[in-house]
Amino acid sequence: MPAERTLSLIKPDGLEKGLIGQIVARFEHAGLKPVAMTLVHLSQAQAEGFYAVHRERPFFQSLVQFMTSGPILAMVLEGEDAVAKNREIMGATDPAKAAAGTLRRDFATSIEKNTVHGSDSRENAAIEIAYFFGQLEIHPYGWKK
Ligand code: CMP
Repeated sequence: MPAERTLSLIKPDGLEKGLIGQIVARFEHAGLKPVAMTLVHLSQAQAEGFYAVHRERPFFQSLVQFMTSGPILAMVLEGEDAVAKNREIMGATDPAKAAAGTLRRDFATSIEKNTVHGSDSRENAAIEIAYFFGQLEIHPYGWKK
C-alpha cells in the first residue's frame, strides 16, 4: 500500500521560538518522513485561502493576522497513518486540552498560537498539500536494504 501523506505547518510562533529542529525530530522519530519542505511568508490572501473553511468563524481575521505575522514552515509528511499520527503528535487544538508530551502541550501558548497545523483527513491532506506544493516538489525517498 502506498504510504499516506499529510500537510504539516510550523506556525510563526514555532519559528519565532526556534522550534523547527525539535518539531521535525519528533516527526522523524515517529516514522514520518518530510518529503517536501518550504519556508513561506503567507500573504493575507494566501492565508485567507488556506483557512477559507473558517471564514465565518469569529476568530478568522485574528487567525489570518497571526498566520501572516511571520514565516511558516510547510512540510509534506509521509508514512503509515500519516494523518492520524501527525494529529496525535500535535495534540488537541487548544494546548490547555492537549495531552502530555504532545507538541501543542509542550510548545503552544494559546488556541491561536498553537505552533503547528496538520490536515484532519486524507481528503483535506490532498487539498492542503496541493495548496503549498506541486507534484515535482515532493520527493519520496528510501534506501535499499
Ligand atoms: P489549525 O489546526 O491551524 O486549524 C484552524 C486554526 O484556527 C486552529 O489551528 C487554531 O489556530 C485556530 N482556532 C481554532 N479555534 C479557535 C478559537 N476558538 N479561537 C482562536 N483560534 C482558533
